[in-house]
Amino acid sequence: MRNLIDELAEKHILTKEELVYIIKNINDEDRKYLSEKASCLRDKYYGKKVYLRALIEFTNICKNDCYYCGIRKSNKNADRYRLSLEQIMECADIGHELGYSTYVLQGGEDPYFTDDKIVEIVKSIKAKYPDCAITLSIGEKSYESYKKYYDAGADRYLLRHETANEEHYQKLHPSDLKLSNRIQCLRNLKEIGYQIGAGFMVHSPYQTPEILAEDLLFLKDLDPHMVGIGPFIPHHDTQFKDEPAGTVEETTLMLSLIRLLLPTCLLPATTALGTIDPIGREKGFDAGANVAMPNLSPTSSRKKYELYDNKICTGDEAAECRYCIEKRINLAGYELDMSRGDNITWTRK
Ligand code: SAM
Ligand code: FES
Repeated sequence: MRNLIDELAEKHILTKEELVYIIKNINDEDRKYLSEKASCLRDKYYGKKVYLRALIEFTNICKNDCYYCGIRKSNKNADRYRLSLEQIMECADIGHELGYSTYVLQGGEDPYFTDDKIVEIVKSIKAKYPDCAITLSIGEKSYESYKKYYDAGADRYLLRHETANEEHYQKLHPSDLKLSNRIQCLRNLKEIGYQIGAGFMVHSPYQTPEILAEDLLFLKDLDPHMVGIGPFIPHHDTQFKDEPAGTVEETTLMLSLIRLLLPTCLLPATTALGTIDPIGREKGFDAGANVAMPNLSPTSSRKKYELYDNKICTGDEAAECRYCIEKRINLAGYELDMSRGDNITWTRK
């Protein structure tokens, strides 16, 4: 085990069989060794800095029906909302006051938000706060649409691949959603010039160690600038309501493996990780993560963006989240960084 971990830390690649071996056999002591190696590598490129991104969940209306997701279209119990441009700008103003320089605009695939509307939102934020970075996370679009958003000023795009295994993908999504299209979208985004983020849920239904190894090797090949992973957590109104959630141990193991495979990637300790364990995000930093994404959405809509049960921070004001995470970062021995926090290998085309 130790020689495999050493090899990964040195060469940043292992075979599928070797990754499966680690996933299946790692014990607590080796886990600690692995996370120390991952932390060291994070420190080499980014130091002890943790970058903050302000998350604005601007619509929970979605035309897709991903089986795991609490806001999928067939959930008739979801209380739907969308924020107006004015409300989004109010969030951006509050974010600016709080010192943020990255805004992550995330939402369901809501047809109301046409390309023109997305371009208007991106341009409005950039006109007011020219030095900020804008990350979009609004699902699968055409090359042309992605290009329009980029030309309007968007810098980054988060689109988790969800699983790199075709069969597994179809067990998590209805047949109109295809892994091949998801991957094409990621490649298009990269070609256009975005900093891209892929990723997956840990312990999603039907996931196996072999599939996790495929996910890791897919990420290695795609070489994204960011990787968003978090535990799967069941939502009571989905068909996966009785499936078990991912654990902190599984998620932090994946974070460390990703850090060693992709040394310079930006790696969030996600809200989902903070949901399954009160100090889950801190454990994520210790495993090699270096980003946190506090919520900036208005408290009136927070609860409605319910992807999974018991999501944390849904009652807090933006300022509370900002200062709570700062305290946590400092107590855990890391430094808050409010700069744009671009991937060190990226420059805008
Ligand atoms: N519509 C955009 C998309 O599909 O990329 C962004 C919104 S989508 C809700 C963001 C992410 O939430 C998904 O990529 C998925 O991995 C995650 N997610 C959805 N349901 C979840 C659940 N039950 N547990 C954990 N994560 C979940
Ligand atoms: Fe569209 Fe979850 S199904 S955001």
